[in-house]
Amino acid sequence: MLKLGVNIDHIATVRQARLAASPHPLEGALLAEKAGAWGITAHLREDRRHIQDADIRELAKSVKNLNMEMAVTDEMVRIACEVKPHSSCLVPEKRQELTTEGGLDVAGQRDKVRAAVEKLHEAGIVVSCFIDPVEAQLDAAKEVGADYVELHTGTYSNTVGEARRQELERLKAAAEHAHKIGLSVNAGHGIDYENIAGILEIPHLSELNIGHSIIGRAIMVGMERAVGEMLEAMKPYSK
Ligand code: PXP
Repeated sequence: MLKLGVNIDHIATVRQARLAASPHPLEGALLAEKAGAWGITAHLREDRRHIQDADIRELAKSVKNLNMEMAVTDEMVRIACEVKPHSSCLVPEKRQELTTEGGLDVAGQRDKVRAAVEKLHEAGIVVSCFIDPVEAQLDAAKEVGADYVELHTGTYSNTVGEARRQELERLKAAAEHAHKIGLSVNAGHGIDYENIAGILEIPHLSELNIGHSIIGRAIMVGMERAVGEMLEAMKPYSK
């Protein structure tokens, strides 16, 4: 069954807008789990713009499967090894970006990524690399020892028509290749209640990580309904 990981960063974004105590990401995470989310994803950014260190510690203790998104830095590897989330997803990070903008260049920094993967594995953490649907990056992710890749669906989400169709073909081919070389496949970024229909054409998917669209919907209808509606949209998946 295709699993849903709900990214709760933007609950913290609303809280941090007022440096207030609420809304609390853990409360949202527990509601998402109650509604059937398999996992909870949170990105501890170097600039701490939304999720804070205390959030990650609390989430790791309280949710069933925490996926910690993180840059490949000594600081983040140290925190992850202390906090021990179920999994970590290595992402590139730029201070000026609104959100993660591209996949991690694993092929261009194999030694650095391999060292991080080894430390995370020693701490018992499953490791994923967030990458663009490019064969060389998939091969590099396999080579450095990653367990999963998360295919970056941002370009698919941000395009329409022929460009979107072509990107979907790239995602499908990347998923086939990842599967062939023994990597498990997740996908995420920009997935919403409408564009998910195309995402379901990608083969071999284990999990989708979805944040902005679910949190946005939750503001209108509540977290449990927002998660329930996404799970309903994911149901037809059969590859
Ligand atoms: N996966 C990764 C690696 C991300 O960086 C993000 C954004 O934080 C997501 C998934 C979720 O993206 P969105 O919020 O657009 O659903």
